[in-house]
Amino acid sequence: MPISTVKPYSSSASKKEEVTQMFDGIAPYYDLLNAVLSLGIDKRWRKTAIQHVAAYKPQTILDMATGTADLAIQASKAIPEAKITGVDISSKMIELGNQKLTKKSLTDKIELHVGDSENMDFESNSFDVAMASFGVRNFGDLEKGLSEMHRVIKPGGSILVLEFSNPRTFPFKQAFNAYFKYLLPVIGRIKSKDPKAYKYLYESVQAFPDYDRFGAILENIGFKKVVWKPLTLGICTIYEGVKV
Ligand SMILES: C[S@@+](CC[C@H](N)C(=O)[O-])C[C@H]1O[C@@H](n2cnc3c(N)ncnc32)[C@H](O)[C@@H]1O
Repeated sequence: MPISTVKPYSSSASKKEEVTQMFDGIAPYYDLLNAVLSLGIDKRWRKTAIQHVAAYKPQTILDMATGTADLAIQASKAIPEAKITGVDISSKMIELGNQKLTKKSLTDKIELHVGDSENMDFESNSFDVAMASFGVRNFGDLEKGLSEMHRVIKPGGSILVLEFSNPRTFPFKQAFNAYFKYLLPVIGRIKSKDPKAYKYLYESVQAFPDYDRFGAILENIGFKKVVWKPLTLGICTIYEGVKV
């Protein structure tokens, strides 16, 4: 099933509308659930991703599908000189992200906007790096979002995508799939009160074109020097590419 057709609810609304509704609904539980369901490893994944971003020594960074701004916050810690802009389609996620920035006194370093990453107001060739963690899988149109990523970075600029992938090694693949398919939706349902949200998480990860397939999509969009690095036995993968 193509990823753009995998939606949280079976309504007549578009994937984008359903995804926005879903994240607006689970926003108050999102950070806690991330920590519980990933046993805290999600923080380490974002930290590793930002080490890769820091190697580019960017002055300007765009965090697409920033959510509650965790990746942007990690970036501002590792690259304090960078000006970071975050965009997310869910106003509730942005609201919570802004509360975190105020608490951490980061409002002068990170600016958050409600907006659609697939159709952004930013001028072409504006950012040194565009990045997204656990975001692109949720785009209404994956290629459109990635083309926007390509458009807004400067020539010579880079992208980094951190996204779930499907572990391939036995017996970890089987154990992880059982957890992801059966246990995680139960915990998610109890904690977030949205039974569909964590079923969607499983289904969208299954449908996501991971590893070489995502690498090929990035190359088709126009990125060069595309590389990927699986983390934690392939639960998620970091993808990078350059605009020439
Ligand atoms: C799983 S969360 C990831 C949030 C954050 N990057 C993180 O690492 O925790 C996915 C986010 O993608 C956002 N999103 C989905 N489609 C989007 C779009 N077209 N434009 C902007 N944000 C989008 C959702 O609102 C949600 O906040």
